[in-house]
Amino acid sequence: MTKPTDFAYFSEEHSAEVVNARIDAEVADPRLASVAASLTRHLHAFIKEVEPSHEEWLAGIKFLTETGHMSSEWRQEFILLSDILGVSMLVDAINSRRPSGATENTILGPFYVKNPPTLPNGSTICQDGKGEPCLVHGVVRDTDGKPIAGALVDVWQTNDDGFYDVQQKNVQPEMNMRGAFRTDAAGCYSFRTAKPRYYPIPADGPVGQLLGRLGRHPNRAAHIHAIISADGYDTVITHIFEPGCKFLREDAVFGVKESLVGTFVRHDGPELAATNGFDGAASYLEVEADFVLATASGRSAMVHQE
Ligand code: BEZ
Ligand code: FE
Repeated sequence: MTKPTDFAYFSEEHSAEVVNARIDAEVADPRLASVAASLTRHLHAFIKEVEPSHEEWLAGIKFLTETGHMSSEWRQEFILLSDILGVSMLVDAINSRRPSGATENTILGPFYVKNPPTLPNGSTICQDGKGEPCLVHGVVRDTDGKPIAGALVDVWQTNDDGFYDVQQKNVQPEMNMRGAFRTDAAGCYSFRTAKPRYYPIPADGPVGQLLGRLGRHPNRAAHIHAIISADGYDTVITHIFEPGCKFLREDAVFGVKESLVGTFVRHDGPELAATNGFDGAASYLEVEADFVLATASGRSAMVHQE
């Protein structure tokens, strides 16, 4: 006679327990066993809530298959899926808990390129000369307010057409809109660039189609990416958001945090613009962006190429 609690045979009521009873705790890595059991519980609860037809379940499998087919060395459609579901930001939040006052993390994104040129403070990263001139400067400090000398501020953004250089090889100069800057003895850094603009995440695959079918747009709020690192401190992967962007409250990947919205102040006058390195410009935008690093926690930041 079948006992209802030994979970040897399948039943709708105990479906997750039946699957999880097969895990051999003597063999399986404990963390893997616990993650797999949790996944099974949540997946079965999802199916019990949704009650998909066979056709709907196959449509889901087809979507995941196409997501895999779209992925390559240069395109990670599964990460994009995780991004638009808010999962990338949630994993990042769990792994980037910091003392109050420290600069918050946000998403790295797929367009980071390691080892950009290290440039003298005040240099421009805008090699194509497009867009509204922008001077970004600030101080890197610890959580006690002490300036950190020798910190590296690694920045990148799209050009004024809304593309990263790596999306437009042979169109944009290599390393356009990228550079790294070392803070001076007072913890200060500065660079010149163009005002960031909003742009769509890659939307020509299954994830883009899903967004469209959900009535969602693919745009990211206008931002400058920054990774700030210094010996003895946790690395911060963050953005400076442009406050006037119409997509600030509806970023496609949920990357906006209130503390990361910058202040952009316009200064009019060609002379003032020229004094700040923008010859021939009628005005420029000044962005003051300070960063606060927390003492090293032992957690390593995920700086990788997706
Ligand atoms: C980005 O900001 O570069 C980005 C982030 C997530 C998905 C696509 C692009
Ligand atoms: Fe970006």
